[in-house]
Amino acid sequence: MFKEAHAKTTVGDKLAFYGAWANSYDQDIAVIDYSGPSLAAKSLSAHFSGDREAAVVLDVACGTGLVAEQMKTYGFRNFVGIDGSKGMLEEAQRKELYQDLKQCILGKQLLPVQRRSFDVVVICAALSVHLAPFTVVRELCNACKPGGYVVMTCFHSPENLEYNTALECELKHMEKEGLRSCVECNVTEIQKRRAGSVYLYKTV
Ligand SMILES: C[S@@+](CC[C@H](N)C(=O)[O-])C[C@H]1O[C@@H](n2cnc3c(N)ncnc32)[C@H](O)[C@@H]1O
Repeated sequence: MFKEAHAKTTVGDKLAFYGAWANSYDQDIAVIDYSGPSLAAKSLSAHFSGDREAAVVLDVACGTGLVAEQMKTYGFRNFVGIDGSKGMLEEAQRKELYQDLKQCILGKQLLPVQRRSFDVVVICAALSVHLAPFTVVRELCNACKPGGYVVMTCFHSPENLEYNTALECELKHMEKEGLRSCVECNVTEIQKRRAGSVYLYKTV
Protein backbone atom coordinates (compact mmCIF):
# COMPACT_ATOMS: atom_id res chain seq x y z
CA MET A 1 0.00 0.00 0.00
CA PHE A 2 2.68 2.53 1.03
CA LYS A 3 4.73 1.96 -2.12
CA GLU A 4 1.64 2.44 -4.29
CA ALA A 5 0.73 5.62 -2.41
CA HIS A 6 3.90 7.22 -3.76
CA ALA A 7 3.84 5.65 -7.24
CA LYS A 8 3.75 7.79 -10.39
CA THR A 9 0.11 7.81 -11.51
CA THR A 10 -2.57 10.32 -12.50
CA VAL A 11 -4.67 12.13 -9.87
CA GLY A 12 -7.69 10.03 -10.95
CA ASP A 13 -5.74 6.82 -10.33
CA LYS A 14 -4.49 8.15 -6.98
CA LEU A 15 -8.00 9.01 -5.83
CA ALA A 16 -9.27 5.58 -6.87
CA PHE A 17 -6.36 4.09 -4.93
CA TYR A 18 -7.24 6.09 -1.79
CA GLY A 19 -10.90 5.17 -2.20
CA ALA A 20 -10.00 1.47 -2.25
CA TRP A 21 -7.73 1.94 0.77
CA ALA A 22 -10.22 3.97 2.81
CA ASN A 23 -11.67 1.33 5.11
CA SER A 24 -8.30 -0.09 6.22
CA TYR A 25 -6.31 3.19 6.04
CA ASP A 26 -6.40 3.93 9.79
CA GLN A 27 -5.23 0.43 10.80
CA ASP A 28 -2.51 0.33 8.11
CA ILE A 29 -1.20 3.80 8.89
CA ALA A 30 -1.06 3.02 12.64
CA VAL A 31 1.55 0.33 11.89
CA ILE A 32 4.03 2.90 10.54
CA ASP A 33 3.56 5.40 13.37
CA TYR A 34 2.43 8.09 10.94
CA SER A 35 2.63 11.31 12.93
CA GLY A 36 1.67 14.03 10.40
CA PRO A 37 -1.76 14.80 11.92
CA SER A 38 -0.47 14.89 15.51
CA LEU A 39 2.50 17.13 14.59
CA ALA A 40 0.26 19.49 12.63
CA ALA A 41 -2.19 19.73 15.55
CA LYS A 42 0.61 20.21 18.08
CA SER A 43 2.28 22.94 16.05
CA LEU A 44 -1.01 24.81 15.63
CA SER A 45 -1.93 24.40 19.29
CA ALA A 46 1.36 25.91 20.43
CA HIS A 47 0.53 29.18 18.62
CA PHE A 48 -3.26 29.43 18.50
CA SER A 49 -4.50 31.85 21.14
CA GLY A 50 -8.13 32.26 20.00
CA ASP A 51 -11.30 30.51 21.17
CA ARG A 52 -10.79 26.89 20.13
CA GLU A 53 -14.40 25.84 20.65
CA ALA A 54 -15.61 28.60 18.33
CA ALA A 55 -12.85 28.29 15.73
CA VAL A 56 -13.84 26.73 12.40
CA VAL A 57 -11.23 24.47 10.82
CA LEU A 58 -11.05 23.55 7.14
CA ASP A 59 -9.35 20.16 6.78
CA VAL A 60 -8.27 19.87 3.14
CA ALA A 61 -7.55 16.32 1.83
CA CYS A 62 -9.07 15.17 5.12
CA GLY A 63 -8.92 11.48 4.22
CA THR A 64 -10.53 9.41 6.99
CA GLY A 65 -10.39 12.27 9.51
CA LEU A 66 -7.15 11.67 11.41
CA VAL A 67 -6.34 15.40 11.50
CA ALA A 68 -9.72 16.32 13.04
CA GLU A 69 -9.29 13.53 15.60
CA GLN A 70 -5.94 14.99 16.67
CA MET A 71 -7.16 18.59 16.67
CA LYS A 72 -10.10 17.59 18.85
CA THR A 73 -7.65 16.51 21.54
CA TYR A 74 -6.38 20.14 21.58
CA GLY A 75 -9.88 21.57 22.04
CA PHE A 76 -10.97 22.29 18.45
CA ARG A 77 -14.57 21.30 17.73
CA ASN A 78 -15.76 22.58 14.37
CA PHE A 79 -14.50 20.92 11.23
CA VAL A 80 -15.30 21.06 7.53
CA GLY A 81 -13.56 18.36 5.49
CA ILE A 82 -12.69 18.25 1.80
CA ASP A 83 -11.29 15.34 -0.16
CA GLY A 84 -11.28 14.08 -3.74
CA SER A 85 -12.07 10.50 -2.76
CA LYS A 86 -15.67 9.51 -2.02
CA GLY A 87 -14.49 6.43 -0.10
CA MET A 88 -12.29 8.55 2.18
CA LEU A 89 -15.13 11.01 2.76
CA GLU A 90 -17.44 8.14 3.74
CA GLU A 91 -14.92 6.98 6.34
CA ALA A 92 -14.58 10.53 7.67
CA GLN A 93 -18.38 10.81 7.86
CA ARG A 94 -18.51 7.72 10.08
CA LYS A 95 -16.42 9.46 12.74
CA GLU A 96 -19.07 12.17 13.17
CA LEU A 97 -16.43 14.86 13.65
CA TYR A 98 -17.22 17.03 10.64
CA GLN A 99 -20.13 19.45 10.33
CA ASP A 100 -19.75 19.29 6.58
CA LEU A 101 -17.81 17.14 4.09
CA LYS A 102 -17.37 18.04 0.44
CA GLN A 103 -15.84 16.28 -2.53
CA CYS A 104 -13.36 18.34 -4.55
CA ILE A 105 -10.39 17.45 -6.73
CA LEU A 106 -7.68 19.93 -5.86
CA GLY A 107 -6.00 21.37 -8.91
CA LYS A 108 -9.02 20.54 -11.11
CA GLN A 109 -11.75 22.25 -9.13
CA LEU A 110 -11.64 25.34 -6.96
CA LEU A 111 -12.03 24.84 -3.21
CA PRO A 112 -15.82 24.87 -2.65
CA VAL A 113 -15.68 27.32 0.26
CA GLN A 114 -16.06 31.05 0.81
CA ARG A 115 -13.01 33.29 0.89
CA ARG A 116 -11.73 34.34 4.30
CA SER A 117 -14.17 32.16 6.21
CA PHE A 118 -11.99 29.76 8.28
CA ASP A 119 -9.92 30.35 11.40
CA VAL A 120 -7.61 27.48 10.51
CA VAL A 121 -6.91 25.69 7.22
CA VAL A 122 -4.93 22.47 7.39
CA ILE A 123 -3.59 20.12 4.73
CA CYS A 124 -1.74 17.04 5.82
CA ALA A 125 0.13 14.63 3.54
CA ALA A 126 -1.48 15.72 0.26
CA LEU A 127 0.96 18.41 -0.90
CA SER A 128 2.92 15.98 -2.97
CA VAL A 129 3.82 15.20 -6.53
CA HIS A 130 0.88 13.34 -8.19
CA LEU A 131 -1.55 14.50 -5.45
CA ALA A 132 -2.45 18.17 -4.90
CA PRO A 133 -0.52 20.71 -7.01
CA PHE A 134 1.58 23.12 -4.93
CA THR A 135 -0.39 26.06 -6.38
CA VAL A 136 -3.36 25.15 -4.11
CA VAL A 137 -1.53 26.91 -1.26
CA ARG A 138 -2.94 30.19 -2.60
CA GLU A 139 -6.48 28.81 -2.34
CA LEU A 140 -5.77 27.59 1.20
CA CYS A 141 -4.57 31.05 2.12
CA ASN A 142 -7.63 32.68 0.51
CA ALA A 143 -9.98 30.41 2.49
CA CYS A 144 -8.41 31.57 5.75
CA LYS A 145 -9.55 34.65 7.68
CA PRO A 146 -6.94 37.40 8.07
CA GLY A 147 -4.99 36.52 11.20
CA GLY A 148 -5.90 32.84 10.83
CA TYR A 149 -3.48 29.95 10.47
CA VAL A 150 -2.58 27.67 7.59
CA VAL A 151 -0.89 24.42 8.63
CA MET A 152 0.73 22.14 6.07
CA THR A 153 2.75 18.96 6.25
CA CYS A 154 4.68 17.41 3.41
CA PHE A 155 7.16 14.63 2.84
CA HIS A 156 10.80 15.06 1.86
CA SER A 157 10.97 11.89 -0.22
CA PRO A 158 13.37 11.95 -3.21
CA GLU A 159 10.47 12.04 -5.69
CA ASN A 160 9.17 15.17 -3.95
CA LEU A 161 12.35 17.24 -4.08
CA GLU A 162 11.41 19.26 -7.16
CA TYR A 163 7.84 19.68 -5.93
CA ASN A 164 9.01 20.89 -2.49
CA THR A 165 11.38 23.42 -4.05
CA ALA A 166 8.51 24.81 -6.13
CA LEU A 167 6.23 24.84 -3.07
CA GLU A 168 8.74 26.75 -0.97
CA CYS A 169 9.27 29.20 -3.82
CA GLU A 170 5.50 29.81 -4.01
CA LEU A 171 5.33 30.30 -0.21
CA LYS A 172 8.15 32.87 -0.39
CA HIS A 173 6.36 34.74 -3.20
CA MET A 174 3.22 34.84 -1.09
CA GLU A 175 5.14 36.20 1.88
CA LYS A 176 6.65 38.91 -0.34
CA GLU A 177 3.16 39.77 -1.61
CA GLY A 178 2.15 40.22 2.04
CA LEU A 179 -0.44 37.45 1.99
CA ARG A 180 0.98 35.58 4.94
CA SER A 181 3.93 35.31 7.29
CA CYS A 182 5.76 32.22 8.39
CA VAL A 183 5.30 31.40 12.07
CA GLU A 184 7.15 28.12 12.20
CA CYS A 185 8.77 25.74 9.76
CA ASN A 186 10.04 22.52 11.29
CA VAL A 187 11.79 19.77 9.44
CA THR A 188 10.80 16.81 11.47
CA GLU A 189 10.24 13.09 11.38
CA ILE A 190 6.61 12.85 10.21
CA GLN A 191 6.76 9.22 9.32
CA LYS A 192 9.29 6.75 10.60
CA ARG A 193 11.37 6.45 7.48
CA ARG A 194 10.73 9.84 5.89
CA ALA A 195 11.65 13.23 7.25
CA GLY A 196 9.09 15.85 6.40
CA SER A 197 8.14 19.41 7.18
CA VAL A 198 5.38 21.02 9.16
CA TYR A 199 4.77 24.57 7.96
CA LEU A 200 2.68 26.95 10.03
CA TYR A 201 1.71 30.29 8.46
CA LYS A 202 -0.34 33.17 9.74
CA THR A 203 -2.43 34.96 7.13
CA VAL A 204 -2.23 38.73 6.95
C1 LIG B 1 -2.08 10.40 2.56
S1 LIG B 1 -3.79 10.79 2.60
C2 LIG B 1 -3.82 11.96 3.95
C3 LIG B 1 -5.17 12.01 4.62
C4 LIG B 1 -5.17 12.81 5.91
N1 LIG B 1 -4.94 14.22 5.65
C5 LIG B 1 -4.15 12.25 6.86
O1 LIG B 1 -3.15 12.94 7.15
O2 LIG B 1 -4.36 11.11 7.32
C6 LIG B 1 -3.98 11.83 1.19
C7 LIG B 1 -5.42 12.27 0.96
O3 LIG B 1 -5.42 13.27 -0.03
C8 LIG B 1 -6.49 13.04 -0.92
N2 LIG B 1 -6.10 13.64 -2.21
C9 LIG B 1 -4.97 13.36 -2.91
N3 LIG B 1 -4.91 14.13 -4.00
C10 LIG B 1 -6.02 14.90 -4.00
C11 LIG B 1 -6.54 15.89 -4.88
N4 LIG B 1 -5.88 16.29 -6.00
N5 LIG B 1 -7.73 16.46 -4.57
C12 LIG B 1 -8.39 16.10 -3.45
N6 LIG B 1 -7.96 15.17 -2.59
C13 LIG B 1 -6.78 14.57 -2.85
C14 LIG B 1 -6.63 11.52 -0.96
O4 LIG B 1 -7.92 11.12 -1.38
C15 LIG B 1 -6.33 11.16 0.49
O5 LIG B 1 -7.50 11.14 1.26
